[in-house]
Amino acid sequence: MKILLVGNGGREHALADALSRENVSLELLAAPGNPGLAQLARVLPVKVTELDTLVALAGEEQVDLVIVGPEAPLADGLVDRLQHRGIPAFGPTREAAQIETSKHVAKTLMARSDVPTARAETHRTALDAHAAVRERFGAPVVIKASGLAAGKGVIVCHTLAEAHAAIDRIMNDRAFGDAGNEVLVEAFMQGEELSLFAMTDGTDVLTMLPAQDHKRLLNGDDGPNTGGMGAYTPVSLGTPALLDDVTERILLPTLHALRKRGAPFTGLLYAGLMLTEEGPQVVEFNCRFGDPETQAILPMLESSLLDPMLAIARGARIGNMSPLVWRAGASVTTVVAAANYPDAPRTGDELTLPDDDSTRRVYHAGTARDANGRLITGGGRVVAVTGLGATFEDARRISRDGAESVGFEGAQMRTDIGWREAERIAAASTEAE
Ligand code: GLY
Repeated sequence: MKILLVGNGGREHALADALSRENVSLELLAAPGNPGLAQLARVLPVKVTELDTLVALAGEEQVDLVIVGPEAPLADGLVDRLQHRGIPAFGPTREAAQIETSKHVAKTLMARSDVPTARAETHRTALDAHAAVRERFGAPVVIKASGLAAGKGVIVCHTLAEAHAAIDRIMNDRAFGDAGNEVLVEAFMQGEELSLFAMTDGTDVLTMLPAQDHKRLLNGDDGPNTGGMGAYTPVSLGTPALLDDVTERILLPTLHALRKRGAPFTGLLYAGLMLTEEGPQVVEFNCRFGDPETQAILPMLESSLLDPMLAIARGARIGNMSPLVWRAGASVTTVVAAANYPDAPRTGDELTLPDDDSTRRVYHAGTARDANGRLITGGGRVVAVTGLGATFEDARRISRDGAESVGFEGAQMRTDIGWREAERIAAASTEAE
């Protein structure tokens, strides 16, 4: 079995790690990959934006499956092109990927299907968006660029002044380019966020363990927004009853709406949820595995990852497959980021890493090799260290100690990943005394 994995981040390293642990005889290719992926796969210097070359490569190599990690090639139609050539691909078509690439399309689908989500309006001029904030929303409010903005297009505004400035930044200054041609003004939701991933054939779902991401750079959820500084799973708030509710009222109706639109979604549907007092509501959908949640979730998977991926990519149904099986205990992932991340991450710093062992995985993200073959920093989020433990506290300690032993100049990390879960555990043990 030969698989081409498209991408070069910690998420793709975690996917490759899970697949190669499951099946040691797999032949993995990664484009463009990274030095961590190079230990598991034959890496090929093809960027995720070079769609023609990727399709040609998949054809020449006669791969059995292509797994597309990031959203950009999905948005550009890589899966459509692979399907056209008869090459099985895990990921949605361009049209179905609009569930992530157009927040306007996502909101419209949700409204038509009564999927719970915050009230929102889409506007195509700054003038209209300003009026919406002034006359109908007030503050706090959320301003979103409708298109893909590398995770930076969502601005939570606590005052009217912040909201008006956010609209100007997106629509007048064009901070996110064409992604800001449309802007969403959305009611602010209060609660805890939860990420729920589901592998889907377009109709049925296999849900994964719920996880919680940490978007801010600094401890205590302070500082600037990032791509994600850490994650943990499972989350005690994500009870089986809550996951059933999300499946029935959010995932299945959304998939139904996409089918009705003529754009069935296959691959990995990521529901970004807010757990409000009125129940779970959708913050956003993504059309791919999340990063860094994947690095926490996949090492917990005991059943096959490959079987459902392959079935979905081949167009088979997964409704008769058994639910995914997970190991007991917990998983915590701590991201170690480069100096000056997220504004202008410094690259080129020499890097030393701890080894993997039975309770620790070290996933490469922004790493590179210099001309002498030395490992150096090569991006904003450099590595993600996942700790696996019998308890949440064990997993957290292993992840934190591992991340602290990552060596490079200017390394930044949070030491409080999972702080909400830690507080819940502490409160429960006080109550029990
Ligand atoms: N964890 C956030 C994302 O993958 O978009």
